[in-house]
Amino acid sequence: MEFISEALSHYSEQHSEAESALLSELNRETHLKAMSPRMLSGHIQGRFLSLLSKLSKPKNILEIGTYTGYSALCLAEGLDVDGKLITIDPNDETNRMANKYFQRSAYAKQIELKSGDATKIIPTLSQTFDIVFIDADKRNYALYFDLIIDKVKKGGLIITDNVLWSGKVLLKENEMDPDTKAIHDFNMKVNSDKRVTNLLLPVRDGLMLIIKN
Ligand SMILES: C[S@@+](CC[C@H](N)C(=O)[O-])C[C@H]1O[C@@H](n2cnc3c(N)ncnc32)[C@H](O)[C@@H]1O
Repeated sequence: MEFISEALSHYSEQHSEAESALLSELNRETHLKAMSPRMLSGHIQGRFLSLLSKLSKPKNILEIGTYTGYSALCLAEGLDVDGKLITIDPNDETNRMANKYFQRSAYAKQIELKSGDATKIIPTLSQTFDIVFIDADKRNYALYFDLIIDKVKKGGLIITDNVLWSGKVLLKENEMDPDTKAIHDFNMKVNSDKRVTNLLLPVRDGLMLIIKN
């Protein structure tokens, strides 16, 4: 489901910073070679992630769900000079493509791709993070929030993708499939958590922006 018309999407793209040549090539290669290319953040969401990262000038970013690396490269644009981005994904095939583009980027030394299940890897991380981007398997969204909340700095930002799930969050609860129910439960959980301030932004498939108080 598209929330705004194709014409308005196109207009927004035409009046926003263009994708870099590297991001444009990655976008194209993902659409040609990877399964489910719709999972890639894309031009407007990518520019939004970049802008948020540049505002926060993070030292440490954690991304859960790398796919082919598009959003990681966008988030890396705001990294402090000695900042680091860790991104986690168990898919070896898309990890190969992501790593290829990370190596070609200006952030080759700052991005670390950990191959594996984020529910197992996050508890092993000792860093605290300025930004966490949750964009992996939907049924674990609430678990990811619980695993990372104590690792986020005060004032840090948690961004979660697909929280409108193509509009399916509007279904009656007894009609929701497990992924939709998990996203709806996550949205309610975050909205009632006094440790954070949140905004559900209806951009693309819905982005939940969460600041740790
Ligand atoms: C929507 S895609 C990520 C898109 C990417 N962030 C972007 O914007 O270009 C979701 C990714 O989550 C990954 N994933 C699924 N289960 C996971 C898990 N348990 N831990 C980490 N990543 C997982 C999938 O392999 C897939 O690549």
